[in-house]
Amino acid sequence: MEKFVINGKKKLNGEVTISGAKNAAVAIMPAALLANGVCKIDNLPNIEDIRCFYDAMTKMGVKCEILDKHSMSIDSTNIKSFTADYDSIKAIRASYYLLGVLLGRFKKAEVALPGGCDFGSRPIDQHIKGFEALGATVTIERGMIIATADELIGSTIYLDVVSVGATINIMLAAVYAKGVTIIENAAKEPHVVDTANFLNKLGAKIKGAGTDTIKITGVEELFACDYSVIPDQIEAGTYMIAAAITNGDVTVKNIIPKHMDSLTAKLKEMNCEIEEYDDAIRVIGTDNLVTTNIKTLAYPGFPTDLQPQMTSLLCVAKGRGVITETVWDSRFQYVTELKRLGANIQTDGRLALIDGVDGLYGSTVSASDLRAGAALIIAGLCAEGTTTIKNVKYIDRGYECVEHKLANLGADITRVKCES
Ligand code: EPU
Repeated sequence: MEKFVINGKKKLNGEVTISGAKNAAVAIMPAALLANGVCKIDNLPNIEDIRCFYDAMTKMGVKCEILDKHSMSIDSTNIKSFTADYDSIKAIRASYYLLGVLLGRFKKAEVALPGGCDFGSRPIDQHIKGFEALGATVTIERGMIIATADELIGSTIYLDVVSVGATINIMLAAVYAKGVTIIENAAKEPHVVDTANFLNKLGAKIKGAGTDTIKITGVEELFACDYSVIPDQIEAGTYMIAAAITNGDVTVKNIIPKHMDSLTAKLKEMNCEIEEYDDAIRVIGTDNLVTTNIKTLAYPGFPTDLQPQMTSLLCVAKGRGVITETVWDSRFQYVTELKRLGANIQTDGRLALIDGVDGLYGSTVSASDLRAGAALIIAGLCAEGTTTIKNVKYIDRGYECVEHKLANLGADITRVKCES
């Protein structure tokens, strides 16, 4: 096991380069199984979730070849199994994309119920509803989701909730379905658009990704291509918040600034100075950080995946800020840990009231999930003294070389082996 040890109160300064988007990469890797031939995927983040997909797909007989730290070739010509068992995919939530892909191309899929970050109930009823609307039979037996079909036929599917996973999964299943599939109330996140762009490059006919309505016209065949994954909106946001909390001056490079609009607006409200460039954003901190209110929403609203990190920032801003989580039922587990660092937060269901304090102090805390871990790192960076963060494995799922990137900006952070 490993932990991070942070000696706080160092201003971050300099430039950080953002990796490829985790949540796009975990859709695009399995999506490559839809194509004939060898896909080469570039700008993959070098993170644990990608390694899990590599292992799971290799076990299924897919030839995955690591070309360098950030690129991989994927060849499904000799795929021999349409099953992803619990041991292969227990750590990754996005394993459910294998269902859409295998069902779409081979009309049969057996995938263990998804694991991944645990912050309350994470249903997949909308994915299943979509597959069934296309003509599949879906059952859950002994912890496995089994989807089969003789053929898939296009249909109109209205999503009861805006779901990133269901939108992508239905697109994956529908690319080979006969006729036209329409997804109404679709998610518009950048990774939905990136996955659609990849599928279109393979030869799919998808229109409207990035709007509420996506139209997929089924095709007979898809052919391999080379593709580069978009930059990670959430990793970028995490470094922007880290710059703000340390009153630093950081240029976050290799990003799509438009994806950051909701965060940029909030940081400006809090008195940070923001400079936007074509593919970078510079965040200049302030010693007069004032609080704000945040409501998480589907894109282009404020992302739930930056909610915990933002809570850390509000902890040291003047005044009372309110965070309303509207995407997940429960995503405030990390608040107990922030309180160990001196935060003044009250939670009530989907609400957190945060009264800014003069400063945080170091202590030992534990990450309960990926973004919770990021929030604790951010808090540790501005805390007086030493903060030790346990359960680093969650952070490694989604942040590439986080301690090196932060150390390059001047943070005092080290990874240390530990017993528990
Ligand atoms: N929902 C349903 N039924 C479904 C699917 C979703 O009720 O069938 C509900 C969920 O309970 C939730 C809401 O719809 O209340 C949104 O869930 P969504 O399906 O959009 O989430 P997801 O696809 O499982 C992705 C990201 C999450 C991110 C959410 C919301 C991936 C692999 N994961 O999850 O990212 O929080 O969208 O933006 O893309 C993370 O990166 O740390 C992470 C958790």
